[in-house]
Amino acid sequence: MIQINELTKIYKLSAKKMQELKTKQNTKIAVNNVSLEAKPGEIYGLLGPNGAGKTTTLRCVATLLKPTKGDIKVCGFDSVKEGSKVRDSIAFLTNEIKLDPNFSADYMFKFFGRLHGMSEQQILDRQKELFTVFGINDFKDKKIEELSTGMKQKAAIAVSLVHDPKVVIFDEPTSGLDIVTARSVTDYLKYLRDQGKTVIVSTHIMSEAEKLSDRIGVIINGQKVAEGTLKEIIQNNEATDLEDAFFKLYSKYNPEG
Ligand SMILES: Nc1ncnc2c1ncn2[C@@H]1O[C@H](COP(=O)(O)OP(=O)(O)OP(=O)(O)O)[C@@H](O)[C@H]1O
Ligand SMILES: [Mg+2]
Repeated sequence: MIQINELTKIYKLSAKKMQELKTKQNTKIAVNNVSLEAKPGEIYGLLGPNGAGKTTTLRCVATLLKPTKGDIKVCGFDSVKEGSKVRDSIAFLTNEIKLDPNFSADYMFKFFGRLHGMSEQQILDRQKELFTVFGINDFKDKKIEELSTGMKQKAAIAVSLVHDPKVVIFDEPTSGLDIVTARSVTDYLKYLRDQGKTVIVSTHIMSEAEKLSDRIGVIINGQKVAEGTLKEIIQNNEATDLEDAFFKLYSKYNPEG
């Protein structure tokens, strides 16, 4: 279970960043008063355009960023006060965190397994399952730096799941993957959902949000502007499909749009 309660995240901008963004303001509101809940046995899709605040939201949930305002509970644990308990309960995947390029997938998997306090046998059993699901066995001993983008992503996904966590937080998990590999990832996320895990996935791809999510939250300019099942979002916006609903919301909530 993930409970995000009135989350606001404001970044302080460096002088360089202010210049880059051509702004006189020294802060950026990346997430603006967002509340949402993702439940066990559910895939919650966080859908939003570039810069909407998806990664920032998920990084707050994963305890890597401290909320400016609001609070987050994961399996009942507070993301700030009980950070280590939250980290034990989650798998977190994001493009910004890379596996060490000098080590192999096999090494990283075992390393993180031990870090989570698993026995060698538990690690081996888990490795057999996940490396088979994601087709990693063929390249498990190669250095990460020698792998293709897709292979790296598959390795990162397997490593993130080593400890069989209750909550799965994946930021754009299929980015850079071909459709066959992307499908193996989304199929596995559905399998985890069916096992009763709580899954939250961010995406800017309409078709992915549509096919994968049990419920969708649309985030634009740091604000949650719509939420519901695919059907509800389409109906509430008097739209023909999700893309149509998204553009209606986008023109309403994006000041420059
Ligand atoms: N460390 C930072 N310092 C200052 N501003 C930041 C920082 N990280 C993100 N931002 C800004 O916060 C906003 C939200 O960024 P975020 O990365 O959460 O968006 P996103 O929805 O994940 O976008 P994308 O689809 O491009 O990954 C953007 O305007 C971004 O420029
Ligand atoms: Mg992002």
